[in-house]
Formats: sequence, structure tokens, C-alpha cells
Amino acid sequence: MSKTIRKAVIPAAGYGTRFLPVTKALAKEMLPIIDTPTIEYIVREALESGIEEFLIIVSSNKNAILDYFDNNYELESQLKEKNKLKELEMVRELPSKLNIHFVRQHEQLGLGHAVLCAKAFVGNEPFALLLGDDVYVGNGKPAIAQLIDAYKKTGSSILGTLEVADKDVSKYGICEPLPGEFGSLMELKSVVEKPALEDAPSNLAIGGRYILTPEIFKYLETQERGAGGEIQLTDSIKRLIKEQEVFSKQIDGKRYDIGSKVGFIEATIDFALEREDLKDDVLEFIKSKISE
Ligand code: G1P
Repeated sequence: MSKTIRKAVIPAAGYGTRFLPVTKALAKEMLPIIDTPTIEYIVREALESGIEEFLIIVSSNKNAILDYFDNNYELESQLKEKNKLKELEMVRELPSKLNIHFVRQHEQLGLGHAVLCAKAFVGNEPFALLLGDDVYVGNGKPAIAQLIDAYKKTGSSILGTLEVADKDVSKYGICEPLPGEFGSLMELKSVVEKPALEDAPSNLAIGGRYILTPEIFKYLETQERGAGGEIQLTDSIKRLIKEQEVFSKQIDGKRYDIGSKVGFIEATIDFALEREDLKDDVLEFIKSKISE
């Protein structure tokens, strides 16, 4: 099987209930960290990691995502007329670089069901899967590039992981490494979706980044509902492990859980502090708040 990962799948079909009321009318993936939609950070991570073709899985109410990755000729001609060339380049740059497709998930039956919508796009090759609630600033390399590197060594499915506190294990898919495995890359015995702490085999949580072999679709097609009454990707990975080796790889970098409000605010502050045009003013504001 090919050792190159050319395709990425990004599910963006969820309701975004944790961000109501704004998500009643705005796709949560379009919520901006400063001035850039969160989904753009995910797409750029994949682009920088060598991904050539993208599939975004959307639902109704998500048309803003399609518009965002398309050209806006009216805006472009306005900007040209007004000689706003920097802004013109800004709105043109991403659509010109992307080979992007969209598919609609008609019913929100869970992550496993969403990923199954990518079957025709993926075909018979391994692919990258990036979940939109997790934004990473990788150390040295983007998070998904770290998994692609690991895939080149193993040729197997790889789940990107992070260590989480006991109180958080029930929010994630949790990995069970084979006995005797240790280090950053480990072969897995099993995985379990959102276990209670007492049933969790470890604190190694699946962090929203995956390399999956196409055999996963065979299991997704027959996957029954699991945790939360949803068709869970983790349950199909558990079945895949019985057929093929599957590994976990610890992601080296900082993760922002932007599906949570605090995580979103944290990302906004950190990203602002990295921006030359904002950092001094933002820092001054934070300092004045702390001294109040
Ligand atoms: C999903 C996955 C879970 C994973 C998590 C990472 O859960 O099902 O295995 O650990 O993403 O963010 P969700 O947060 O969509 O409930």
C-alpha cells in the first residue's frame, strides 16, 4: 500500500451545541480565532503537511464553509478597484492553493457515520483525518505531519494522542497499548470511547488526529451505535485492531480544545500574543486586568 498520505478528511457537520446561540445560524467551524475561521487553521496544518486533496464533510446550514474556500469575485473586484492589494492577496491565496471537495452528511448520527461519508473520496488509500475541535501548534512539525512520519515507518493506522487528567478521560476515546509497549509510538491492544474513569485502560486520549487505512470503511459500514447513542469511529477502530496493527503516537505540541469556551478563549489569547500587530496591545490589556 502507498506510503504517501495525499488526502485529508475534515468532518464539519456537527451542530455545535456547545456554542449556542451563535451556532444557530453560524457554522461552529467558522468561529474565528481573531480574524481567521478555526477550520482554516486545520486546513493549513494539513496543507503544510503535504496534503493534496481535501474533503470537508458538511451538513445543511454550513454553506459559509463552502463560500469561504471559494473565490468571491465581487469582493475581489471591489478590492482591486480600491487598490487594496494586500487584502486582495489575502482573500485569494487559500482558494488558489486548495483542491477541495465537499460532501453532505444528511443525518448527524455520529463521527463514525460522518467519516463513512468520505468513503468514495478516499478510495483505496490511507488518509488523514482531522477533527475541527482540536487546534494544534506542533513543536517543530504540524501535528498531522508527525503522524504521517510515523505512518511512513509502520504503514499502519495511527491515532494521535495526548495525556489527559483523570477527570477528563470520560470525554475522549482512550487507547490501550499492548502490554510491554512504551514510548511515543505504541502498538494498541484496543481503544474505548468515553469510558468511565474506573474502566479506562490508560490516560492516553485520542486527540482528534488520525491516519487511517481504507479498511476502516468496512467496519464503519456495519457499525452499531455506541457511547451517547452515536455511531462511533473509535468502535470501528477497535474492530480494525483485530485485523491490522494500529498504533498510537503522542503528538508533540500544544493542543487547544476549541470545542470548549475556555479552550477557545485560551487559543484567542495565545494566538494574539504570537501576532506582531497585536501582541503589545493585548499584553498591556492583560497586565492592566491582572493589576485591577
Ligand atoms: C471525538 C472522538 C473521540 C476523541 C475526541 C477528540 O469525540 O469520538 O474519540 O477523543 O473527538 O477531540 P467528540 O469530542 O466529538 O465527542
